Amino acid sequence: MSRKIPYGGDYNPEQWPEEIWDEDHRLFTTAGIDTLTVGVFAWSVLQPAEDIYDFTVLDRIVERAAAEGRRVVLATGTAAVPPWLALKYPEVNRTDFEGRRHRYGQRHNFCPSSPVYRRLSVALASRIAERYADSPALLAWHINNEYGGACYCELCAEAFRGWLRARHGTLDALNHAWWTTFWSHRYTDWSQIEPPSALTEHWRGPDHTAFQGITLDYRRFMTDALLGCFVAEKEAVRAHAPDTPVTTNFMGLYRPLDYHRWAPHLDFASWDSYPPLDAPPTVPALAHDLMRGLKDGAPFWLMEQTPSTTACRDINPLRRPGELRIATWQAIAHGADAALYFQMRASRGACEKYIGAVIGHAGRDDTRVFREVADIGRELAELGPLTLGARTPARVALLVDWDSWWALEISDGPSRLVKYPDVLHRYYRAARVAGADVDVVPVTADLSAYDVVLAPVLHLVKGDLAERLEAVAGRGGTVLTTFLSGRGDEHGLAFLTDVPGPLGPLTGVRVDEWDARPADVTQTVRIGDREVTAGLVFEIVVEQGAEPVATYARDFYAGTPAVTRNRFGERGGEGWYVATFLDEPGTDEVVRRILGRHGLVGPYAAHAAVETAHRVAPDGTRLLFLLNHATQEAELSAHAAAADVLTGKRYEPGEPFTLDPLGVALLRVQ
Ligand code: GLA
Ligand code: ZN
Repeated sequence: MSRKIPYGGDYNPEQWPEEIWDEDHRLFTTAGIDTLTVGVFAWSVLQPAEDIYDFTVLDRIVERAAAEGRRVVLATGTAAVPPWLALKYPEVNRTDFEGRRHRYGQRHNFCPSSPVYRRLSVALASRIAERYADSPALLAWHINNEYGGACYCELCAEAFRGWLRARHGTLDALNHAWWTTFWSHRYTDWSQIEPPSALTEHWRGPDHTAFQGITLDYRRFMTDALLGCFVAEKEAVRAHAPDTPVTTNFMGLYRPLDYHRWAPHLDFASWDSYPPLDAPPTVPALAHDLMRGLKDGAPFWLMEQTPSTTACRDINPLRRPGELRIATWQAIAHGADAALYFQMRASRGACEKYIGAVIGHAGRDDTRVFREVADIGRELAELGPLTLGARTPARVALLVDWDSWWALEISDGPSRLVKYPDVLHRYYRAARVAGADVDVVPVTADLSAYDVVLAPVLHLVKGDLAERLEAVAGRGGTVLTTFLSGRGDEHGLAFLTDVPGPLGPLTGVRVDEWDARPADVTQTVRIGDREVTAGLVFEIVVEQGAEPVATYARDFYAGTPAVTRNRFGERGGEGWYVATFLDEPGTDEVVRRILGRHGLVGPYAAHAAVETAHRVAPDGTRLLFLLNHATQEAELSAHAAAADVLTGKRYEPGEPFTLDPLGVALLRVQ
């Protein structure tokens, strides 16, 4: 296979007769499919009993792929345990949040703390690796599948206690971190600690907890427990195949797992993109950029997307003609170095039989979906290696912090209506539609390359983050933070200072009071000569050196600042504070003012439906992706001398050109 974007997806031929495989491969060739993810749910086929392994079918699948010149992403198959295992070792089955030990069923059905699961999953991974390490088809290892969920069993309780000892050292430290004197909770022995669940600290589900500290720690622990499963399998695989890269497929902004804790353990990041089809294109874009941020900007893989429709939702709309193509190019524009589907052929039975597939039940090569997939296959073949390894030259960073997400959404007060991803997305969207490339990075990232750092709802401020944000402004950059930021330390304990805690010096404000209102009670905010709308939370800002940029128009705090900026340091840097949840026009206004300070509003920013994204190839080639998300043509004029890689057309600066509805241009910029 020549160097190009791997194209293909999940392929489970163990589920149908071998005669059909010929047809599968003929169709793969027609569609330019060169990469197959195999073995994802094959445990019960590969190990029908504890002492019997049977690789006959997988051998044939892998050999056939190799013979056809295709590469395989080989899964370890450990995401769904076989029935014999669950029956023989009932402790492997998860215990849910309500304390119910599950019986055999579904998938992702293993307790991450179970030694039996660990032993048997590692043994399976090890045998697979030993057997296929030298296969010419092997491209990458795919450990498990979409790790997620949580377990609350006795094994997890015991593992949690061990994790807490390592984290806190002493019970005194733990009692302080969780503030246990409140409601008479002082622990005097580690054995007294129970997982926070519906039986213990929670009411009304996982977000309502009496002690945020224990719930925060349990989410960190569960992240690490599942990560431990991944690492154990990875090591087993590595022992046999030291040079083949290892990944596991993530789910974008997936709340239960802090992917930043996982990132160092992946050789490359990969994820499954299933945005609700009515979501704006900035929703999958944010997740792509989050995935790219996991490995310091290195390319990631789009491990799954549907070629046409999902089935897991109550209502599953169809991707319209052209939508799959633009979604695929969007992923590449944001740093994907692979474009894979779930799934290559439709499952005949069970809950995924209506999920879109490249090849449907009838096995036709003349369906619209198949033709679109094949057209994309041709385009990617023509593209060749151009985008592989290319990096995004972003000067704007958006901070994402799972601890802040968790702490915010498990907090009693000020408002349950504030959803962390919604606020992140609003700022991300504003920067993206203004034409800025955005790196979505953890709070521990090196911020020295950025002119602008957006840190909305930075609820917890941990470690030296405040100083590092001050350093951004200190060298002339701009930092923005918002309402509900700087509220707690790493345990969620309030700072014994003015709000926003350690962010006070940078923002030059103080917040003594805040007013949370139902979603239908909004405020008018005046910014320059515009009026915009704000909702959910209205913090009342007392300037401590900052100057107002926008003010509230109503209520007893009318005329007080809703947005401020604070000059910081000697080099013209600024710290902005947005005290409320501004609507899109308000957020756009604030973000464009900030981007404008640094010359970062893009040349196509007037075209709201046209997305731009840059990548710089390893040989220095500068690529600009233009994606027209509208179903009408976009009339543009070239901002620079450029050549479209897809059509060969050349443009002079200022030359007008038309981008088709859902059209894509990939400009090599001179
Ligand atoms: C997920 C899983 C796949 C499959 C698809 C269906 O992403 O990884 O196994 O269930 O969704 O869309
Ligand atoms: Zn468990």
